Amino acid sequence: TRRVRARELTLAKERGEKWPMLTSYDQYTAALFDQAGIPVLLVGDSAANNVYGHETTLPVTVDELMPLVRAVVRATKRALVVADMPFGSYEEGPTQALRTAVRFMKEGGAHAVKLEGGRTVAPQIEALTNAGIPVMAHVGFTPQREHTLGGYRVQGRGDQGDEVLADAVAVAEAGAIAVVLEMVPSDVAKKVTTEIAVPTIGIGAGPDTDAQVLVWQDMAGLRTGHMPRFVKRYADLAGALTDATKAFAEEVRSGAFPTGDHSF
Ligand code: KIV
Ligand code: NA
Repeated sequence: TRRVRARELTLAKERGEKWPMLTSYDQYTAALFDQAGIPVLLVGDSAANNVYGHETTLPVTVDELMPLVRAVVRATKRALVVADMPFGSYEEGPTQALRTAVRFMKEGGAHAVKLEGGRTVAPQIEALTNAGIPVMAHVGFTPQREHTLGGYRVQGRGDQGDEVLADAVAVAEAGAIAVVLEMVPSDVAKKVTTEIAVPTIGIGAGPDTDAQVLVWQDMAGLRTGHMPRFVKRYADLAGALTDATKAFAEEVRSGAFPTGDHSF
């Protein structure tokens, strides 16, 4: 087996083959998703929420993401592992972006990086691409900008659809290997998907993008409580883990565990 390359994702688009992407932040899920045939794994800055327990993605740092990237890379053989550049690690310009991205490639062993933004971050994408670092872009709703976007809201409704399209075209022209489209109307996502040559990866962007991504804890039902509309739960890991935990606790209290079988 060898690693998936960005070029294969574009060839899949040309053949009309859709592909799945998931987040991963640890060795067990990374190995499992890799063996299940997920071609691209994202060590998202959503680790802020899903690993570190923050309310938003803003607080997580490069130093906090780095060991997670290393774990996911070590645990996979085939998946292309993308390191998400956190808030504050690339906005100053191409020089800062390059410094951060080089760390993720060198120390983290990542195969690509991702950053949020459209036309305004095109210079960063171009600089990284020129340096040999594949970059995934992320337009539409960009969680790192939630304070200026007015919270979790669909982007690109009505006339604003052209803004999303202009952002996607700009990042593709700057060299992005793929573009995440988050919370945009389906018709806008469809238009973007036909207008750019590289794959679009939807999350809350309807059925017509080239790929789909979800946060794994949402997909597998480990996270409970209010869920965005774009999430589909394919399992109830929270329920399964709660049941296992209660059974263990109960057996310890009753003395049913351990028995001679578990003892030396
Ligand atoms: O950090 C993340 O999980 C993401 C994906 C949802 C695209 O950016
Ligand atoms: Na992210």
